[in-house]
Amino acid sequence: MKKIAIYPGSFDPMTNGHLDMIKRGLRMFDELIVLIAYNPHKSFLFSVDERIDLVKRVINGLDGVTVDSYSGLLVDYAKKAGATALLRGLRAVSDFEYEFQMALINRRLNRDVETVFLMTSVRWFYTSSKLIKEAASLGGSVKGLVPDLVLEKLQEKFNNR
Ligand code: PNS
Repeated sequence: MKKIAIYPGSFDPMTNGHLDMIKRGLRMFDELIVLIAYNPHKSFLFSVDERIDLVKRVINGLDGVTVDSYSGLLVDYAKKAGATALLRGLRAVSDFEYEFQMALINRRLNRDVETVFLMTSVRWFYTSSKLIKEAASLGGSVKGLVPDLVLEKLQEKFNNR
């Protein structure tokens, strides 16, 4: 039986840390669905369609990965997709409490879906979409932290403001 995992997140925008997680996730799972999921606590720079398009173009050529979006409960999507795992990346200790809470609520909502955590690669320890957007919005260089395509889109967004 195929092992399918969901890699959910806001991906606003996708970073090299996300890409690293996708590549490493593919070593453990036969199929990975990168899911642009709805986070009610955030406001977004890129539309869902823009985020899907960016992820699709960045992962182009990687076997076993697909991209989708969903505005409902993650565990419902997982059930529908036949996925048994949710993949999340952990960076600093500060991620832990939020991730622990999410893993526990998701487990309570559906006991058949496990959350699997991968520690971030040390290169991306300090990378977050939030700080990347902040730096880029103030004219700072984020080259090397995001795929080149994302870099271009960030520059377009902030130059047009
Ligand atoms: O990249 P993020 O913003 O940290 O990802 C958080 C996300 C989108 C995975 C989380 O908000 C989520 O799972 N949203 C979907 C709704 C849901 O199922 N929430 C958890 C149970 S209440």
